Amino acid sequence: IGPGKQSSVLGAKDIPALAKYIKSDGCKNVYVMLGAGVSTSAGIPDFRSPETGLYANLARLNLPYPEAVFEINFFKRNPQPFYALARELYPGRFRPTPTHSFLKLLADKSLLRICFTQNIDTLERRAGVPASRIVEAHGSFAAQRCVACRRPYDDAKMATAVHAGRIPRCETCNALVKPDIVFFGEALPESFNSSVPALRNADLLLIMGTSLTVHPFASLVDFVPLRCPRVLINLDHVGDIGERPDDVVLLGKCDDVVWDLARELGWEAELESAWAET
Ligand code: APR
Repeated sequence: IGPGKQSSVLGAKDIPALAKYIKSDGCKNVYVMLGAGVSTSAGIPDFRSPETGLYANLARLNLPYPEAVFEINFFKRNPQPFYALARELYPGRFRPTPTHSFLKLLADKSLLRICFTQNIDTLERRAGVPASRIVEAHGSFAAQRCVACRRPYDDAKMATAVHAGRIPRCETCNALVKPDIVFFGEALPESFNSSVPALRNADLLLIMGTSLTVHPFASLVDFVPLRCPRVLINLDHVGDIGERPDDVVLLGKCDDVVWDLARELGWEAELESAWAET
């Protein structure tokens, strides 16, 4: 379902109707789901885009299969591929995108309830989204600890080791140090499970830059009430978005759609200055 079909909540299924709804009294609680597609314009590759995705470019790390780079058992046997990748992805070199700054505007306007992100790049918090509004479902590089005794490892020492291509080891028990990223085979943080029920209060769900292939994150789309429009902003059509009567599918680059939406909302100048501050 694209623009043009009717919606009982929005009316038309297009950016002007969405902007009108966001400014209406009926839209108080906005929830967001982010995937790697929102950070590609920051220079961070996503995972599954055919040519440019990380999984298509990990061949040089001679992995048995791409996802192994984020598998906990593989990591414990051979941490080298992950740390080679961490050196490229490590936060500090990347600037938030206009999409990240748009989320900050939603928070500034007391509309954003929770931003659920799968991304580990910390660009949401770097854009100024309050930490209390962010759930990093797959963890992030923001902290790290020993895989054996769980002792936290010093941030500065971690950054130095990663940039030097060295593999950090615990100063207490000499086991491997790993960032607080959720690897395949690990449980999601408690903050994720405890935040899911809040989705029943959603008046709007924005789903941006994700293939909706990894669970349980992808199943968040099922938790919003039927009266809550689910808006997919993505290069391609993913998941079951479009099957509910009030779903909206806006295909395109996140930043392009966000600039168009900001213009319709009359927030273009605010978005420009919010982004300029990043
Ligand atoms: N604008 C809009 N959509 C984009 C853009 C863009 N600029 N760039 C890429 N996309 C889309 C892609 O078409 C794809 O549908 O974003 C989606 C990215 O999907 P993935 O690469 O699978 O990333 P993601 O959904 O975040 O992956 C989920 O997989 O490996 C695990 O833990 C990892 O969190 C990650 C999870």
